[in-house]
Order: sequence, then structure tokens, then C-alpha cells
Amino acid sequence: MTRKELLKELTSHIVPRDHAGDDARQLLTHVLNISHADLLAHDDEDVSSFQKSRSIRMAKARSRNTPMAYILRSRSFFGRQFAVNDHSLIPRPETEIMVEEAVALCNDSSMFIDVGVGSGAIAVTLNLETNRPIIGTDISKRALKIAKKNARKLEAQVSLHEGSLLEPIWPNELKRHERVIITANLPYLSEDMWNTSPDEVKNYEPKIALVSDASDGLDLYRELLMQINSRREELPKDLFVLLEIDPRQNDLIEPMLDEVAPGISFEIKNDLAGKPRVVILTF
Ligand SMILES: C[S@@+](CC[C@H](N)C(=O)[O-])C[C@H]1O[C@@H](n2cnc3c(N)ncnc32)[C@H](O)[C@@H]1O
Repeated sequence: MTRKELLKELTSHIVPRDHAGDDARQLLTHVLNISHADLLAHDDEDVSSFQKSRSIRMAKARSRNTPMAYILRSRSFFGRQFAVNDHSLIPRPETEIMVEEAVALCNDSSMFIDVGVGSGAIAVTLNLETNRPIIGTDISKRALKIAKKNARKLEAQVSLHEGSLLEPIWPNELKRHERVIITANLPYLSEDMWNTSPDEVKNYEPKIALVSDASDGLDLYRELLMQINSRREELPKDLFVLLEIDPRQNDLIEPMLDEVAPGISFEIKNDLAGKPRVVILTF
């Protein structure tokens, strides 16, 4: 069987049909370990029976709505490939805006803290883009394992700690730099938001990585800000905190900040789709 014939067969396996051709091409180039250009230029070459059975197995998984990132065990973020597993959230393109904003705030005396590192997409990217030190924390051992793997593979220097939010970070680690930039893409969906998420998310991604207990979904951000308040003296004066939100939470931010950080200066930046996505707090 030729590459072209297999591509046709893979496309026919993938239902629903939206993006079936793109998904099939991505699966085939992954299995053959070639580029799209190579596939186009040499589509009359034969495939092995192993390549055929492996790619058909993947196409069948895709037709059951398994996200492409879990089938390929990898997702691109900020132009780099990150390994993902069933215990880590798939890095989202909308999160790239938080990285861009954090990089723009960075100077030669900055350090970063990324709370809830997950696959390490934010932490690894910040280190590679700025060469500044970064500490990442997560309560999930399994997420930390994949973050460590990504940091090693992409040759990033990220210091990883297990624990809740800022708790595992020692006071002397916080004081060492003149500016600290904290990034947080923590679970922020309410149960209602989770219930209306696409099946691809609900059936495959870890709920624990996405949903917060509070009715507005913002409890972990409240807790983070309260931890910052109680450790304010250990942190430098020059402090920024970036929080990723769901666009539906836009109007809930100000009341939440009035509760836990009254009077703080903040702005909300839109993502590439023009939707409110990142809250930037300036202390
Ligand atoms: C929405 S995922 C985001 C992962 C990653 N930051 C990204 O953008 O791809 C949230 C992560 O926060 C972690 N998490 C949840 N509660 C936490 C807590 N109290 N302290 C630290 N990490 C937490 C979860 O284990 C999960 O890895």
C-alpha cells in the first residue's frame, strides 16, 4: 500500500469528518516520521504493514474523539514540542499569551514562579525565552514527572517542587531577586463550565487539572493571593502576578480581587481570539 492510499484510508476512519484530512495527515507523518512536505512529494512510496496497522489504530482512537495530543503523546507550545500524558493538561494555544506577557515584564533581575506547572509548558518556555531562573510547583507528582521530562528534553533549567501553590518555596528563594513574576494557569473552571465543555475535554482530560471547587471557579486564585499577602515580606517590592482565566470570568475578577487584594492595580489582556484571558496584577 502506498502513502497516498493509506492517507485516504485513515481519513475514512476518522469521524466526525471535520478536520479528518488534517488529522489523518498529522498521524501519518508522525508514524512515518516525515514532514508534510515529504509526504506530499513522495506519496507514491510504500508503507510497511507495521506503519499501516499503527496508523489505523491511531485513526480509530481519533474517531473515538481522543484528543490528537494524547494520541501523539505530544503537543506544540510556543514552537516547541511538549510530551503530554493522561495526567497532564494538554497545553493550550491561548496560554501562549500569558507567556508573552510574562516575558515582556522580565528584566535582568527577574525570577519567575509558575504555580501548577502541569506539563511544564509555561515554565520551560519562560526559562528558554529569557534565560532567567524559574521555580515551578504542582500538587500532582505525576504532572511534575512529565514537567521534569520536558525540561530535560528541551534543556531548560527549571527547579520543580511538589506542594500547593507557593507553599513548597523557601523564603530565601523568594528574596534573591529584585523582581518576581508569578504565572498561574490553575484549575479555574466551575462545575457548570466543566459540564458545558466539549466531550473531547470531558472524556479525556484530567478533571482535577481543570476544575476548581468554587462556584465561580476562582478559589485557587483567591488562595494564591492570600498566600502572597501572608508572605508579602518575603517577596520583593517589585512583584507581578499573571492569572489565566476563562473569558466568562471577566466580570468576576474585580469582585474576587476586592475580597482578597482590595485596591490592587490590574488589567485584563485578550487572547488572539480577542477574548479576555490573562489578568495581570501589579503589586
Ligand atoms: C490547568 S492545569 C495547567 C497546567 C500548565 N500550567 C499549563 O498551562 O499547561 C493546572 C495544574 O495545576 C495543578 N494544581 C492544582 N491545584 C494546585 C495547587 N493547589 N498547587 C499547585 N498546583 C496545583 C494541577 O495538578 C495541574 O497540573
